[in-house]
Amino acid sequence: MIPEVKYPCKLSIAKNILNDLIEENKRDGKENFIIDIDKQAVGAIGLTKIIKGHKAEIWSWLGEKYRRKEIITKAHKLISDYAFKKYKLKRIYGNLLTKNIGSAKMLEKSGFKKEALLKKNAKINGKFYDEFIYAKLK
Ligand SMILES: CC(C)(COP(=O)(O)OP(=O)(O)OC[C@H]1O[C@@H](n2cnc3c(N)ncnc32)[C@H](O)[C@@H]1OP(=O)(O)O)[C@@H](O)C(=O)NCCC(=O)NCCS
Repeated sequence: MIPEVKYPCKLSIAKNILNDLIEENKRDGKENFIIDIDKQAVGAIGLTKIIKGHKAEIWSWLGEKYRRKEIITKAHKLISDYAFKKYKLKRIYGNLLTKNIGSAKMLEKSGFKKEALLKKNAKINGKFYDEFIYAKLK
């Protein structure tokens, strides 16, 4: 999973993140994709905790310059359609901090539905945050 990335980030950090995503693709249960625009890696989207025939978690990240152009909404639709077919899934889900209004809107536009509020589900730098869980079912 991509950590919170500051924009612009150092080239060395970007390279490490890309290498980690490529390495993860060699393992079962994960599949990552780079979002490429004009041969530039501008974001990423991935599936994790894949359980074939059942479920997977989806996550995404897009560079600030490319946001609010529906790129991620389209990527979520594309990757979830792909994952439902390839892994014969019944459920794709994603967690997000309750304050992440952009992600919530984007998931709703991609066909995901809010299921629940998860109190203190995320721990970031020693602090606890509430999250929503969104899911798309087949
Ligand atoms: C969240 C994120 C993926 C959204 O990407 P995006 O490219 O802006 O999304 P889209 O352009 O597809 O927008 C989808 C909808 O969300 C809205 N939206 C996006 N960011 C928003 C924000 N910060 N505040 C309010 N609405 C927002 C868009 O306006 C659009 O709705 P509209 O068509 O009604 O206007 C992107 O901001 C991001 O990468 N953030 C950092 C990482 C992150 O939070 N990842 C998700 C958790 S793993």
